[in-house]
Amino acid sequence: MGAHTHEQGQHSHAHSHGHSHGHGGHTHDGIDWTQLLDNLRRDDAMAAVTNAEIARRLIALPNDGGDRPTVMDAGAGAGGQSAAFAKELAARGGGRLVIVDATPELLDVAKEAAERALDGSDSVTIETIQADAAAADLAEQLPAADLVWASRMVHHLPDQQAGTTGLAGVVRPGGWLALAEGGLPIRCLPWELGLGRPGLQDRLLAARDAGFAQMRADIEGSVPMPYGWNTALSRAGLTDVTSFSVLTDHPAPPTDDVRESVIAWLGFLRERAVDLDDTDKTTLDALLDPAAPTFLGHRDDIYMLGATTVFIGRR
Ligand SMILES: C[S@@+](CC[C@H](N)C(=O)[O-])C[C@H]1O[C@@H](n2cnc3c(N)ncnc32)[C@H](O)[C@@H]1O
Repeated sequence: MGAHTHEQGQHSHAHSHGHSHGHGGHTHDGIDWTQLLDNLRRDDAMAAVTNAEIARRLIALPNDGGDRPTVMDAGAGAGGQSAAFAKELAARGGGRLVIVDATPELLDVAKEAAERALDGSDSVTIETIQADAAAADLAEQLPAADLVWASRMVHHLPDQQAGTTGLAGVVRPGGWLALAEGGLPIRCLPWELGLGRPGLQDRLLAARDAGFAQMRADIEGSVPMPYGWNTALSRAGLTDVTSFSVLTDHPAPPTDDVRESVIAWLGFLRERAVDLDDTDKTTLDALLDPAAPTFLGHRDDIYMLGATTVFIGRR
């Protein structure tokens, strides 16, 4: 789970670098994505407003595809953005939503999330397709789409440029590829906590960054992409390349959901953070112990603040 300065997007949980094997699907990162379902769902809940804003902006992009656009969510996870797309498409007269993932269990979860968002409306058709986004023949496996969205997925592929180029090949001429990568990782703690060393938040993000680098290094056939995502989109042959960013802002004092999400994220980090020193580990334990007076559950100064950056390019 690396926070990061370049690749990972703002969500907090879903970057394990564990090495257990998934059930049906195979991803290149060795991550068991079904096991991370609760984390993905929690991320989606915290990002609901962000996802709605992204859907609004992306579906409003000029498009040659006519009134009922085809929108694809590649690497949909628990389906938070699929749900936002479904709702936005329904509000704009309908369309077709294609949910793609390498992990079959997640396809069902994402489809259910999108169906729930439709709330009985039948103006949007929803399909699911199991596919490996790194496949050389991706464009043959998937229908052409007016908008192809991939959030925090391409950085799990061995060759991120090849993955970007492959996704661009699924875009209908005149349509758009949108990648959520980079952005600002979620922050949730004040600088000074009254225990441990100040600045824990920054060291946690650094540890998450190191975990991310390790995840990339452990992918078989991993190749570096020593430039930014706008360049990746340009090299994929797209034009009108730009980006926009949307804040996720849950201010202090936290609601119960935000509090729970912060605690879950820090718990996840505590389990996996190899790069933290013992003082910081002790501090985290004190923050996460429900029986301790230092428990985060008693604090009103925790929050969630991050930004999702969406890089777009037109075919
Ligand atoms: C970090 S999650 C992101 C989920 C969601 N897009 C979000 O931003 O919350 C990565 C997702 O990509 C999927 N994935 C990973 N490697 C993939 C591949 N090679 N092909 C297709 N999907 C893949 C995983 O199953 C998981 O659903």
